[in-house]
Amino acid sequence: MTRSALKAVADDLDIPYYKAVGDECELFEHAFRHRLPLLLKGPTGCGKTRFVSHMAARLGRPLYTVSCHDDLTAADLTGRYLLKGGDTVWADGPLTRAVREGAVCYLDEVVEARKDVTVVLHPLTDDRRLLPLDRTGELLEAPDDFMLVASYNPGYQNVLKTLKPSTRQRFLAIEFDFPAPEDEAVIVARESGLPEGRVAPLVRLAGALRALKGQDLEEGVSTRLLVYCATLIRSGVKPERAIRTALIEPLTDDADVRQALLRVADIALG
Ligand SMILES: Nc1ncnc2c1ncn2[C@@H]1O[C@H](COP(=O)(O)OP(=O)(O)OP(=O)(O)O)[C@@H](O)[C@H]1O
Ligand SMILES: [Mg+2]
Repeated sequence: MTRSALKAVADDLDIPYYKAVGDECELFEHAFRHRLPLLLKGPTGCGKTRFVSHMAARLGRPLYTVSCHDDLTAADLTGRYLLKGGDTVWADGPLTRAVREGAVCYLDEVVEARKDVTVVLHPLTDDRRLLPLDRTGELLEAPDDFMLVASYNPGYQNVLKTLKPSTRQRFLAIEFDFPAPEDEAVIVARESGLPEGRVAPLVRLAGALRALKGQDLEEGVSTRLLVYCATLIRSGVKPERAIRTALIEPLTDDADVRQALLRVADIALG
């Protein structure tokens, strides 16, 4: 193997594993190249976070992730003065750091952030790409390799928790869903180490459980839970026990719904 081929393999090993399920990797690269912010929408555990870490590594950019919640303040994103041994020193927040370094800043569950916080993103997400730091008097211009990515789960139907149109219309948006069964089997096998032949029935079962979503279940079983289930089986837990622990109990607390899910599992696994 040539030195450059070896390097390519080594680089590949450093990059978090992500199996593309459509053209999302290309779209991300286009967005990065043209300095456009990107919003990822999709159910819990379908691969959004893994996708962002994969793409940041692939593009050779550091990644700063912020999990948004309703106590998050603008200063948590941009930075604040801290007392240090009698002095006050400015400490950049993750957004400011990402702008200074030309990194990817990933705002997870961005709808959880208050609207006055998301407004901080506005000058950064139009063609000015500016981050004003009122406290320090700085006006930072984002370098070409800075990118803002946000994600949320539109499934939790909470009318109060949507983005302002003026915020959401600043982002390109890609919709994520659970991978097709062939892809999901490859992903779960790779993540858990369980052979694909043993993963396939679990993926089939996930499909049957997902079909119940909306009736008694808020969310269908995620790829993440499938990975957990396969990991338990790989480590020696009996499949029925692993399925109950990883694919049934996490979905519901309701005894009737649980019984129904267990019946679905019996039928799906034959
Ligand atoms: N396309 C994929 N390639 C590789 N792994 C995947 C893929 N999709 C899902 N996974 C697996 O599923 C797990 C959960 O995915 P991830 O944490 O990215 O979900 P998420 O969409 O960010 O969920 P949440 O909204 O709850 O944060 C990953 O740790 C990984 O094991
Ligand atoms: Mg995530």
